[in-house]
Amino acid sequence: MTKVYIGMSADLLHPGHLNIIEQARKYAGDNGEVVVGLLTDKAIASYKRLPYMSWEQRKIVVEAVKGVSRVIAQETLDYVPNLEKEKPDFVLHGDDWKTGVQAPTRQRIIDVMATWGGKVVDIPYTQGISSTQLNNVLKEVGTTPAIRLQRLRRLLNAKDIVRVMEAHNGLSGLIVEQTQVNNNGKKDEFDAIWISSLTQATAKAKPDNGFLDASTRIAALSEILDVTTKPIIYDGDSGGPAEHFAFTVKELERLGVSAIIIEDKVGLKKNSLFGTEVKQQQDTIENFCDKIATGKANQVTDDFMIIARIESLILEQGMDDAINRAKAYLEAGADGIMIHSRAKVFDEIKEFARLYNKLPNRKPLVVVPSSYAQVTEEELIENNINIVIYANQMLRAAYPAMVNVAKSILEHHRAKEASEDYCMSIREIINLIPGGKVIERK
Ligand code: SPV
Ligand code: MG
Repeated sequence: MTKVYIGMSADLLHPGHLNIIEQARKYAGDNGEVVVGLLTDKAIASYKRLPYMSWEQRKIVVEAVKGVSRVIAQETLDYVPNLEKEKPDFVLHGDDWKTGVQAPTRQRIIDVMATWGGKVVDIPYTQGISSTQLNNVLKEVGTTPAIRLQRLRRLLNAKDIVRVMEAHNGLSGLIVEQTQVNNNGKKDEFDAIWISSLTQATAKAKPDNGFLDASTRIAALSEILDVTTKPIIYDGDSGGPAEHFAFTVKELERLGVSAIIIEDKVGLKKNSLFGTEVKQQQDTIENFCDKIATGKANQVTDDFMIIARIESLILEQGMDDAINRAKAYLEAGADGIMIHSRAKVFDEIKEFARLYNKLPNRKPLVVVPSSYAQVTEEELIENNINIVIYANQMLRAAYPAMVNVAKSILEHHRAKEASEDYCMSIREIINLIPGGKVIERK
């Protein structure tokens, strides 16, 4: 009995996939078997964005395709563990992997297959259609609140660390949505968007002291929702009185926000990065636990997350206080903990993570490396940290860029130097945002 193995993600199934399955069927013959190694969310997220459909949904689709005998999970990008288990006679793959970053993977598979006399067959790549093209079309179509909301939990299951970037208006949201770099064949992009109280307030030339009311902040959030599909984590400050927090939770859920982070402080809001330079008061454990429980009791979906932010290190209350609060907040129902620090080094957070990771009911741990910006995502992963938020860099970059332009025009009494040195071209700006689709019915 001939056995043929194909590895695929099959998120956006197109004729290219069907062609490979059809070819596999021919190689298998009437009595042979076509086994699809369906990449898990984790395997896919290790090199590109999370698939639209869950593994279970993709499995249902692939199992229904004519010619497929069996679908198994391929847990890693590396085919070898599955190949060693299955020992197929053939592995089929599109011939695009003969060159570029996938070439060494192909060679490794050829070598492993040779140990039991198996062969790799390269199928001519189907022209005119690709997952990348379909992906771009889907991004244009957008998303729905329900799909967006669920996506943060899926990312937490699939990724070693969920990478979150701040956006404060539509344009910065678009940059977070679209920016991608190729790191040795791995497509790196941001997984989710942080709606920061600091940058939302600063963009409106207001202090980060709670002056912006909920409606103003939600209007700015709306601009971002409009042009993005990635999940949203909302900075809820202290959450306000529990009676208000109940409404905030429902409103954010309705909009498709995945999580709110609330901090254990009371009184006039002050930005945490001031630390003890200004008067800031921490909430009691009892009050804050009541607020968390109120939020949890008011949410409508199972997926929405309420993450409790601990300010003990910011307010120099010590590590024991921070860990005691983490225990209490988790018991009150928090879906995760954010630990904040304004230390210049990572040590304090590292120590917190070490103690936190021992808690029996541990939930995702969130950090915001603004003052200890030298820490790498690799170090955070080593310390079992689940979400990293780059909380303010987009706005901190925009402000000095604008100041430079303003100064240049004042110095030169004309715009030539500013335009050439600091600005994108007029052509680029007018084409940056495409117009919407217009249908004319004559
Ligand atoms: C924010 O981005 O508004 C935050 C993080 O809450 S921090 O500014 O560091 O307090
Ligand atoms: Mg804030």
